[in-house]
Amino acid sequence: MSPTDPIAMRLLGANVPFSLLGASFKNWMPRTDEERAHLETVQRFAKAPRGFLLMLGNVGTGKSHLAVATMRQRIEAGRSALLYRQPELLKDLRKFYDAEGPDPRDGCAAVDLLVLDETGLASGGKDELPLITEVIEQRYSARLPLVITSNLRWEDLAAQLGDRIRDRIRGATFAALVFSGDSHRACGREQYLESDDGAIRSALREIQTVNASR
Ligand SMILES: Nc1ncnc2c1ncn2[C@@H]1O[C@H](COP(=O)(O)OP(=O)(O)OP(=O)(O)O)[C@@H](O)[C@H]1O
Ligand SMILES: [Mg+2]
Repeated sequence: MSPTDPIAMRLLGANVPFSLLGASFKNWMPRTDEERAHLETVQRFAKAPRGFLLMLGNVGTGKSHLAVATMRQRIEAGRSALLYRQPELLKDLRKFYDAEGPDPRDGCAAVDLLVLDETGLASGGKDELPLITEVIEQRYSARLPLVITSNLRWEDLAAQLGDRIRDRIRGATFAALVFSGDSHRACGREQYLESDDGAIRSALREIQTVNASR
């Protein structure tokens, strides 16, 4: 990943975590037939996103990587994309309530492609379920594409989200993929420990400063 890579900068501004800025379809290596099939499905979605793409399953199996690869492809095609981890969406909503930032629901409704990452990683706040419900409803009513990733099984996620949302997700699903393999995190350990991306880190600090002063 180069610090001058404009797509990486756009991904940074779209809330993509630093560790996944370089994620693309080219560097997602399938190890099993299941992963090969999942890669093919996600690439099909990325070409012309329609409906909801669910990626559920074990930790470290590449769900967020593929979600970011999809965002990268859409941004390269001139579209907008935004990623929210559930805890960060809630944090931004509370900042909005305290008049310390914009309403994150507006960004989630307006963007061409939204990724709700780590859905179901609930902190237990009273405003959490209504927030996720509203964001998913907005995408459904406007027929806008949505990627949902979660460590939960579909039954548990659906139980958490409730009947209204379960029904909407069912009615809009492009594909529901379950990642059952082992974590890939250990394979990238060397790169993680050795990477030195000073320029990207200072860009990240700049974006955080701009966001904090909004
Ligand atoms: N098939 C793959 N090929 C190459 N790298 C991969 C692959 N799958 C995952 N990785 C890498 O492993 C790490 C973990 O992947 P990722 O964050 O996408 O997992 P995840 O499924 O979202 O996990 P979690 O459920 O814990 O959020 C990342 O650095 C990612 O780039
Ligand atoms: Mg993830």
